[in-house]
Amino acid sequence: MQTADTLDVLRKQIAALNAGAGGSDLPGGPTIGLVPTMGALHDGHLTLVRRAREECDHVVASIFVNPTQFGPGEDLDAYPRQLQADAEMLAAEGCDILWAPSAAEMYPDGFVSSISVTGVSEGLCGADRPGHFDGVATVVCKLFHQVRPTHAFFGEKDFQQLAVIRAMARDLDLMEPHVRSIIGVSTVREPDGLAMSSRNRYLSEDDRASAAALPRAMKAAIANMEDGKDVTATLADLRTELFAAGFAKIDYAVLADSASLAPLAALGDRAARLLVAARIGGVDGSTRLIDNMAVG
Ligand code: PAF
Repeated sequence: MQTADTLDVLRKQIAALNAGAGGSDLPGGPTIGLVPTMGALHDGHLTLVRRAREECDHVVASIFVNPTQFGPGEDLDAYPRQLQADAEMLAAEGCDILWAPSAAEMYPDGFVSSISVTGVSEGLCGADRPGHFDGVATVVCKLFHQVRPTHAFFGEKDFQQLAVIRAMARDLDLMEPHVRSIIGVSTVREPDGLAMSSRNRYLSEDDRASAAALPRAMKAAIANMEDGKDVTATLADLRTELFAAGFAKIDYAVLADSASLAPLAALGDRAARLLVAARIGGVDGSTRLIDNMAVG
């Protein structure tokens, strides 16, 4: 596996990948799968790399703890960083290039641009984390330009993020003939059902055990809604169950339209999703966990 920490080196490595298979990044050339990450890799990330490996000729993973998607008082400084261990995991999965720029390389002095996606970015995590999705959309747009992938792979655990990235790529004409496909990959879970996340490592042993109540309560709520129980009452029961399990704060627990992410008061014909963000640990819930599941 090659590593690049400057754009200059990355561009040469990407050009060599394209030239090696006798083509360009336009149709007919080799396929390049991009797996954007912030590092502290776990099996959820490696599942994306494996999927990219299966579907593409070459795989590029990025590791960049993107400062612009963290708000004041969020965990930017505490976010786990383990570049060497991550690089070893990526190499073992057959990744071709690790793109690991510094913040100064990604956002050089004088950087003044930002991409703002409205609509799908506005509720849920967007309401609790102002500016978060602008940071995500901006860095992912830059990654698409830097790597010029034909395919990009993201976890469905960050369901709203995936919707924001799809909207950004569509609206800014980054799709065909450039990016042919943005692929959402099912959430990878621990044996007790907790969605894998780099932030799970913040949890104490007790909070980690309590956190398993989140997917359990969500599954129970989904079963109830599918059985015809009133959505508002079901969501209220879900909140009660999470507080009883030790969650300190629930940022949202919403049934939403899977495409627009607009809240739904009842199940209907359109695909629906249950999305929850809840905080656990410390006095006021220092670790924020998110999860989502299909309903119906
Ligand atoms: O999901 C993440 O790890 C990040 O939000 C992403 C997509 C790599 C952008 O920084």
